[in-house]
Parts: sequence; structure tokens; C-alpha cells
Amino acid sequence: MKALIVGSGGREHAIAWAVGRSPQVDRVYCAPGNGGTAKTATNVPIAASAIEELVEFAGTNRIDLTVVGPEAPLIDGIVDRFEREGLRCFGPRSGAARLEGSKVFAKEFMARHGVPTADFRVFDDVERAKAHAEARTAPMVVKADGLAAGKGVYVVRSGGEAIDAIDEIMVQRKFGGAGDRVIVEDCLEGQEVSVHAICAGERGFMLPSSQDHKQIYDGDKGPNTGGMGAYAPVPWFGDEERARVYSTIIEPTLAGMSAEGEPFAGVLYAGLMQTDRGPMVLEFNVRFGDPETQVLLPLIKSDVFELLYRASQGELPHSVELWEGRSAATIVMAASGYPGSYGKGFAITGADEFAPGNAVVFHAGTARDDRGLVTSGGRVLAVTGWDDDLRGAIEVAYEGVEKIQFEQAYWRTDIGHRVL
Ligand code: AMP
Ligand code: GLY
Repeated sequence: MKALIVGSGGREHAIAWAVGRSPQVDRVYCAPGNGGTAKTATNVPIAASAIEELVEFAGTNRIDLTVVGPEAPLIDGIVDRFEREGLRCFGPRSGAARLEGSKVFAKEFMARHGVPTADFRVFDDVERAKAHAEARTAPMVVKADGLAAGKGVYVVRSGGEAIDAIDEIMVQRKFGGAGDRVIVEDCLEGQEVSVHAICAGERGFMLPSSQDHKQIYDGDKGPNTGGMGAYAPVPWFGDEERARVYSTIIEPTLAGMSAEGEPFAGVLYAGLMQTDRGPMVLEFNVRFGDPETQVLLPLIKSDVFELLYRASQGELPHSVELWEGRSAATIVMAASGYPGSYGKGFAITGADEFAPGNAVVFHAGTARDDRGLVTSGGRVLAVTGWDDDLRGAIEVAYEGVEKIQFEQAYWRTDIGHRVL
């Protein structure tokens, strides 16, 4: 079988790695891929946004399964286009991808189907939004409706800050059309946890829980990034919590999407707050998380290709085997300056030779040129380790980080600090 992975980050390298381990798969392509996938798969110079070119490539090369990493092509209808050509593509159609593409759609959907989430109001008028924010008590959360590269959410401590946020979104139009509407919602308190479910219509298989580290600096300080590290599973999130999330969030969401004529296939990623009223949804994503994928896939013992292939045709296997008792952690090695501006083109040593038994280096912002492997992005590598417990997994991952060098490398030293 031949698989095509769409995207170029650490998530996509991890998907290519997991899919390529299947005995059924003899060729993995990545479009456009990175310096890591260049070595273990075949990179194809097509951007993740170039849907027509991807359709053509998959058709001409008889790709058996395409797996889409990032959200934008899903929201733009890549799965719909592949299906029209009779090509198999793992992910939701554009109608179902609205769960991530429009926060207003997601919130109103949750309200219609009784999925627990913070109380909210939606505004398309600046003055009304501001009047509402001024009249209510802080803290509160202001969100742009559409995609905003992870920057469209403002947790604010006063009415004044809320008004500034509304200004940035709706008046300065910092996120363009994504800010035509805003949501003002209650601020939830509790512990955050993420849950990924591989879904095929009304059924979903929940992968282990995970936790991302969004801020750039140790101690969760500084600006938000795409994610500086992650671990799985989350120790306090046990069988009881899992069952409750499935029955109160995943199941009603899948049933609701089906009932609305938009059955969900692909990965449903629910960002949750564990509150004293139970788990509540902060946001939905409609694809694998990055860097969560780099810790989730090494926990799956079953054939990942088989799992995604079957799910893309509306079936889930009766059981998915996990590596019982295993924990995983990933440390993102970034270029200093990220998430602001940073240098590129620094030579990377130690990554190609890296081959310990219970760790793997997933590439994100890397490329290969005549000097060999070089940095080409802000998040450069994600070093994943696994072990019998979380502490061990974190140690293995940090030992891996120590073996890799590039100029201006930066990483957080406290991944997993919240639970250790
Ligand atoms: P999002 O981009 O939707 O994942 O939101 C980014 C972050 O904002 C989340 O990971 C939470 O830490 C925080 N957040 C979003 N919504 C709320 C809420 N209603 N209450 C508290 N924190 C929130
Ligand atoms: N790590 C957060 C995300 O993938 O959205």
C-alpha cells in the first residue's frame, strides 16, 4: 500500500513514522515534508494548501490512503475533493471541519447538543460586544471566530482588557475575516487535558489523554507557541474520567454531527478543562495535535495505517492495542527567538545518528541542503522518549535532547512539571 502524508511538521513526521511501520505499507510520501521525512519517506514538493495538485498526485500515483496533518486544507475541503475522485483521505469533510474552522459554529453546536462548555455570547457588532464585556464580571475569555494561528483567544482579567481584545480582533482586524465575529465566554477553572479520538461516524476510539505546553518559557511564562512539549497519558486522568469524557463529550458530539448531516470522520481533538462540574470543552480541533501526536503514536501497538485506513471508510476496528503501561514525553527543540523572529540555516548534528531503542527524533523545521541537515523553522525537532512511567519517559527524552546540537537551540527544561 502507498500512503501520502500532507503537511511538514513534527506531527506529520510522526504520522509518516507510524504509518511506515505497518507491514502493509511499502511506500510513504510526504507533501511537502521536511528534512526528517526526506530520509525515511519520499518528499513531494507540493504545499499542504495546494489541494488540486495533491488530488492529482494521489490519483496519478495510486495512493491508497492520504492522511492530512494541518487543519486549513481540511476546512478548505480536501477530503471532499479526494472523495469526489474516489480517493481515500483520512479526515473530516469541510462541513464537519467547521468544529475547528468556526468557534461560533462549535459553541452553538455544543449548546444545541448539550455538550458541556463555558456559557457564551456571540457578537458581530463591536459596540455591542464591548458593552457586554463592560457589563459583565471578569475574568472572561474573548475569542475570534475563525482560524487565528492559535492567537485568537484572550483570557482577560478586566473589562478594559476585554475591550482591548475586542478592538484587536474586530477593529484592527488582526486576524482578518476570522474576526468578523467574537465570542465572549465564561472563564473556566481547573486542570487542562486534551483528548484525541479516532472517529468514524457515530463511533470514536479515544487515544490516551495528553497535555501540551503552550508557553515558550519554563513555568508556563511568556507568549504562546505552537507547543513546546507534551506528554501522555496524563496520570490523574483515569478510566473514570475517560468514560465521562466519552459519554458526555465525544459521543454526543459524534451523534450531533451525524444528526445534522455532517458525520465526523478523522481525529476529533477536544481541548478540555476538568472543572468541579466535570469536563468541559475549551475548543475542538479536527486533526492530530502538534506536538501531541509525537507522544500519542508511540503509545499505539496496533497497526496505525490499518486504523486510519479503516476509519476513513467508516469502520473502527473492535480493539486498538496500546503499549500497556507505557508513557511518552516529547521535548521541542526550537530556534532562539521563536515564536518571534529567529535565524534559519544552522547545521544540526546528532539527529541523523540518533538511534536509541526507546526514543525517536521527529523533525519539524528542518531541511537538507549541500551542508546536510539544517534548521528551517521555529520549532526544529521534537525528541520523544518513552518508558514504563512518565518520569522515565521525560528523562529519556531529555537525554536525547542532549545528544543533538545546533546553534541557538532552545528548549524548555520543565516538560511534565505540572504532574511530577
Ligand atoms: P484555544 O486556542 O481555544 O485552545 O485556547 C487557548 C487557551 O486558552 C486554552 O488552552 C486555555 O488555556 C484557554 N482558554 C480557552 N477558553 C477558555 C475558557 N473558557 N476558560 C479558561 N481558559 C480558556
Ligand atoms: N498543540 C496544540 C494543537 O495542535 O492545536
